[in-house]
Formats: sequence, structure tokens, C-alpha cells
Amino acid sequence: MIFVTGGAGFIGANFVLDWLAQVDEPVLNLDKLTYAGNLGNLSPLRNDPRHVFVRGDIGDRKLLQRLLALHRPRAIVNFAAESHVDRSIHGPAEFIDTNVVGTFTLLDAVRAHWSELALAEREAFRFLHVSTDEVYGSLAPDDPAFKESTGYAPNSPYSASKAASDHLVRAYHHTYGLPTLTTHCSNNYGPLQFPEKLIPLMIVNALAGKPLPVYGDGRNVRDWLYVGDHCAALRMVLAKGRVGQTYNIGGNAERANIDVVQTICRVLGKHAAARDYGSLVTFVQDRPGHDRRYAIDATKIRTEFGWLPAETFESGLARTVKWYLDHSEWLRAVTSKEYQNWISLNYAEAEA
Ligand code: NAD
Ligand code: DAU
Repeated sequence: MIFVTGGAGFIGANFVLDWLAQVDEPVLNLDKLTYAGNLGNLSPLRNDPRHVFVRGDIGDRKLLQRLLALHRPRAIVNFAAESHVDRSIHGPAEFIDTNVVGTFTLLDAVRAHWSELALAEREAFRFLHVSTDEVYGSLAPDDPAFKESTGYAPNSPYSASKAASDHLVRAYHHTYGLPTLTTHCSNNYGPLQFPEKLIPLMIVNALAGKPLPVYGDGRNVRDWLYVGDHCAALRMVLAKGRVGQTYNIGGNAERANIDVVQTICRVLGKHAAARDYGSLVTFVQDRPGHDRRYAIDATKIRTEFGWLPAETFESGLARTVKWYLDHSEWLRAVTSKEYQNWISLNYAEAEA
């Protein structure tokens, strides 16, 4: 079996669902179920014996030891993290606890387990660490896209904590020989994304007739990757990736935020009861230290494995909007009191 961490969150749950649909190998899923983790994301697997869910923390060494000894996974796929940049600005401590100390504890427990395996099992073992393009910092409009060789320049507490975890993964390969793989993907979007991130937040606010808060001048650029394409790339890296290597994964879809928001408004206008969603766009105070542009050069994964995103931004966004329109119950469940408290805190100025 494989051992997935953070598999009740957005990308992790999509990965587990896709994995069991495509690969048919059991999954041990460890998730702390923070505000971002949601067992409802995994409800199609409720009666599936191939999915073993454990609520717990990647920072709990004893639990990790127990799970590794009992289930003897052949690979780890580490999604578990605090993942939202704005939350890292309001409260960085949890990002250090989970992304840095938690990843260290996971790596160290896995190393101890791996070093006791028979030679053939040791060689076949993989530790796939899911990182981000944000560790590379911010690009100017004409800069070339991030390559795997681009230097690290993280700018937020979130990206600094992910960079620290990447360095630990690298060190565990270089020093101990742990067979690691690291991926750096761009901004994911798609079903099951918690509505604190740009695309689901805009869909949810638009449907509720609330303002669509665009930070600064709205010209910051992100490279949008449909989550299903990301999951396919991760399966390829796990199967074929060269040990110790890093792989960039991007959607080949650079868009300015304001263009993303206007496209959402247009797509929503075709589906829901007609209203002028565009008039809800509101420019609000910029995010402190806001990175201007991210862009991924995915040449390496394309040439080594033939991976290409199947979705264009337009096709992926149409699927995403439809998913949110069809899943109002899911949305009601995740937009709890805690969610409302976060919205009030982060958008205090916009609401004033
Ligand atoms: P998410 O916030 O939706 O989910 C994170 C999951 O990790 C949640 O289920 C949460 O309960 C769990 N978790 C948090 N702390 C934990 C801990 N200490 N122990 C066990 N579980 C814990 O995040 P996501 O968007 O699905 O991102 C998954 C991974 O991909 C993260 O490592 C993130 O840094 C990375 N990433 C995300 C994006 C993106 O656009 N969403 C882009 C690049 C990289
Ligand atoms: O690049 C990969 C990263 O993408 C991941 O590592 C992170 O986990 C993920 O959260 C994401 O980070 P971003 O900060 O780019 O994503 P977010 O959806 O928060 O914001 C996308 C852009 O939209 C960014 O330029 C900020 C802007 N924005 C965001 C929100 C929430 C707004 O203008 N208004 C908003 O309300």
C-alpha cells in the first residue's frame, strides 16, 4: 500500500480518489483534520476496504512508528501542510509546527523504518514530498518561468516553511540515502478546494451576491493547474521519478487575477440564474509581501515522462464552476462558523 498524509484536504483527497480509481492499490491516509481537512471529501470511499483513514498528526512520532510497522507501505506521499498564504501572515506558528517540524518528524520516522527494510524493499521505497512553486519567489513580467534549477527565494511565512521542508527532504536523501522525490506545482484549482483560495472564494461569494475581493491592482499572475492534471503528474513522478530529483508541474495557464475573476463571472453567468456578477468585483488592500508572478517551466516532466496537462484553463474552470454549483451541500458544510470568523479577520478592511 501507499501512505498518504493530508489526504482529507483538497489535493490529497483528489489524489486518493483518483489513485483508487486508476491504480487499485490500497491507501493508508493520515490526516489531522484541521479546518482544511474534511472527511466528507472522502465519502465515496466510506465502504471501500482499500482506504484506511487515521486521524492524526505527522508530528506524532509514536503514531507514525506504529502505522509504518503495521502497514509497511512501499511509498509515502506527503501532502500534509498548512497551505494558505494569508493564514501564514496572520499566524505563522502553525506553519512552522506542521510544515517544518512535522515534515522533519515524518522524514525521521520514515528513515528509521526504511533503514530496517530488506535491500530490495529499501531500493523500491519512495518518499514523495509535495512542495510548491512559491519557494522560488516572485518573477518580473518578462522573467523566464521557474525551472528546477531556479534558486530558492521564499517570501511568505508559508513559502519559507515549505522551503525549509524541501531542504530537509533534500538532506535526508543526500545524507542518509532516503529515496526521495520532490515536486513543485503551481496554483491548483478544481473540485473540493476549501473556499479560502482565490477561485472557490470567488465562486462562493458571487453565488451569495457578496463582494469579490481582488487584492491590490489585480495584475498579480498565477499559473493555474487543474487538480486532476496534478494528480496524474504525481502518479507519474512516483512511478518513474529519478530518486533525489525535483520536478516542476504547471498548468501552462498564466493569468492575471482580475482576468481569472472576470472569467469566473462569465462562466457563472451561463450557469446560474442570471445576474451581473462582474459588478461585485471590489479592489481591496493588497496582501503584505504579495508575490507578483509565478510561472512554471514544466519541460523536465514533459520530456522525461511525456506529461502534459489535459485541461486548458477554460475547460478546467468550466468543470470547477459546475462542480461547485452541483455541490451546495458540501459548501454549506465547510462554510462553518470557523470559516466565517476567518473571512471576517482576513477581509476586515474590505468589509468596513
Ligand atoms: P489543504 O490545506 O487543502 O489540505 C491540507 C491537509 O493537510 C488538510 O486535510 C489538513 O487537515 C492536513 N494537515 C494539516 N496539518 C496536518 C498535520 N500536522 N498532520 C496531518 N495532517 C495535517 O492543502 P492543499 O491545497 O490540498 O495542499 C496540499 C499540499 O500541496 C500542501 O503541502 C501544499 O503546500 C501543496 N501545494 C498546494 C498548492 C495549491 O494550489 N493548493 C500548490 C502547490 C503546493
Ligand atoms: O503557487 C502555489 C501556491 O498557490 C500554493 O503553494 C499555496 O498552497 C496556494 O494557496 C496558492 O497560493 P496563492 O497565494 O497564489 O493562492 P491564493 O488562492 O491565496 O491566491 C491566488 C492569487 O489571488 C494571489 O495573487 C492572491 C489573490 N487573491 C487571493 C484571495 C484569497 C485575491 O486577489 N483575493 C483573495 O481574496
